[in-house]
Amino acid sequence: MVLNLGILISQDGSNMLNIVKACHEKKIQANVKIVISNNPDSKGLKKLKNFKTKSTILLLKDFKNKKAYEEKINELFKENNVNFICLAGYMIILERDFLEKWKKRVINIHPSLLPSFKGLEPQKQAIQKKVKFSGCTVHYVNDNIDDGEIIDQSIVKVDKKETVESLKKKILLEEHKLYISVLTKISKVLK
Ligand code: GRF
Repeated sequence: MVLNLGILISQDGSNMLNIVKACHEKKIQANVKIVISNNPDSKGLKKLKNFKTKSTILLLKDFKNKKAYEEKINELFKENNVNFICLAGYMIILERDFLEKWKKRVINIHPSLLPSFKGLEPQKQAIQKKVKFSGCTVHYVNDNIDDGEIIDQSIVKVDKKETVESLKKKILLEEHKLYISVLTKISKVLK
């Protein structure tokens, strides 16, 4: 099935841009229908201007509550024929009501080998624990943080002199590859 993706971001948007590029270059059978960011200063959002991909900034504070905010997201996805959702550095937890509408159709990428180091600053948690290997995980999203069924993972070696920053960079490179590989597989099996 051709994936019609809706992507939610809050940060730099490098994973999002990488997915947009892969679609543009026809590396995956997918189209990015709309990108929604709750961060108006996202670098990736600015770079997205080089593509024809639609994007919108939605601020939670402009809505009466989270339910109304997520209803708007749902509405935008429906209007744009989205059939699959990618979270890419999206920092707001999706509510159960929203996820019920998109069962098995929302995935996320997290920069650790889940179930280790859930939540914030997983690279820092990995360095502090002195793990020898870390990596990234793409998983289905449920209403617990970084908890859904794991789809695929990629491993990186943590060197003796590794810093949080160097580990972030190392993992991010793997994230870009892993997200595309997972989307390729999903586009082949999803009906
Ligand atoms: C990535 O490390 C992602 O795994 C995490 O947040 C970061 C977002 O990076 N959830 P970017 O916005 O895709 O550059």
